[in-house]
Amino acid sequence: MALSGFRDFYPDQCAARNAIFGTWRETARRYGFVEYDGPPLEPLELFTRKSGPEIVGQLYNFKDKGDREVALRPEMTPTLARMVTARHKDFKKPLKWFSIPQVYRYERPQKGRGREHYQFNCDIIGEASLEADVELIALLIDTLRGFGLTEKDFVIRLSDRQFWTDFMDAKAVPEDHRYAFIQAIDKSEREPREKTVEKLGPLADEVFAILADAGSAKSERLDTVETGLRHRGLQDYVKRDYTVVRGLAYYTGVVFEAFDRTGEFRAIAGGGRYDTLLKNLGDVDLPALGFGMGDMVLADLLNAKGLAPAGKTGNGIYLIIADDGYRPQAMRVLTRLRELGPVHYSFTPAKVGKQFQAADELGCCYAVLVDAKIGDDLVQVKNLKTREQLDTPMADIVSAFTKLDQSAPLAPVHPVNPV
Ligand code: HAM
Repeated sequence: MALSGFRDFYPDQCAARNAIFGTWRETARRYGFVEYDGPPLEPLELFTRKSGPEIVGQLYNFKDKGDREVALRPEMTPTLARMVTARHKDFKKPLKWFSIPQVYRYERPQKGRGREHYQFNCDIIGEASLEADVELIALLIDTLRGFGLTEKDFVIRLSDRQFWTDFMDAKAVPEDHRYAFIQAIDKSEREPREKTVEKLGPLADEVFAILADAGSAKSERLDTVETGLRHRGLQDYVKRDYTVVRGLAYYTGVVFEAFDRTGEFRAIAGGGRYDTLLKNLGDVDLPALGFGMGDMVLADLLNAKGLAPAGKTGNGIYLIIADDGYRPQAMRVLTRLRELGPVHYSFTPAKVGKQFQAADELGCCYAVLVDAKIGDDLVQVKNLKTREQLDTPMADIVSAFTKLDQSAPLAPVHPVNPV
């Protein structure tokens, strides 16, 4: 059994996961983002310095055999910041980068929360304009739309971390109480009101009034972002909501979280601006923003809506060897057939009927029959769906496929040099 909070991916689950990755990659590509990756194991210090206490409490960390304090990445943002600060001069700004890391958090496993998950990360680095915030939120919306979800299914709750920083400045909230203050707002929806009142002290009434009526609190940044999204026709996907402050310590400006409309699930995605992280980490003054979307809540939501993407099981061709004396010739055909797509065959001699049955069980679209009865050097190609068939010289096997009805297409493959 896998460890608690960790998942096995049997082939159908792996296919479903890869279908999600496919939509993630495709949407990122449409926005001109390029893929990067980093190591799953990092120096512990990278996260203790930057992610904030909430994440640090959930770290998988240990001493390696060289006595180094290391941790499995609980999120991608510190790794991205480290990579960009190390080589920022090599890249034209703004950077638009995405990644699909597996990340690890020692949390209590529950619905939508595991100890590992895959997280689609999209980040823009080196752009201070709020147009980048609009673009990033549009990318988040389009990613979810890419799975068939609509404004009836999900909403992006928009907020402004800077609004609360200004609020705390105006009310002279002491520096050492600020993180707890922000956390109290973050948890205010999930905790009893008295508990939040206790944490916020004399400012509680004022904070609750803002949370109850987002329109009463001004944020020019949010006005600009909302206008930008309206120009793109995406206004129905967002809602201003100052309860969103984000658990991570590094956010500075516009922040947001995506939720299903029913409120049944935990956050689907979250992100925002972190304009000071690169400066604090590597002394490189570059503004930045991004989001992370986990695969677990997303898959639960897609299942609930009947939108779970069907994984591809392109089970192309079954090579049927009627007479085992022909196995050497058949192996030559096998190599050629693999220029076209996935090819299966029986590793040991078997009756022809059994081999057709195996083809059926695997969902193969085609069979290629190697049988002395067909004729010298000839093989028979059959479309198992339409029952069409033709005999062809072994040497012409690949071109024979183009003559057959292609209504049951093979999984596309990259071109292979013929043998
Ligand atoms: P986060 O809000 O901690 O942000 O995580 C982003 C998303 O990852 C969540 O909304 C949720 O879908 C998923 N997630 C988080 N923890 C778990 C878990 N234990 N099990 C399953 N899914 C989970 C970040 O990690 C930021 N680094 C995102 C970001 C990128 N900000 C800027 N750039």
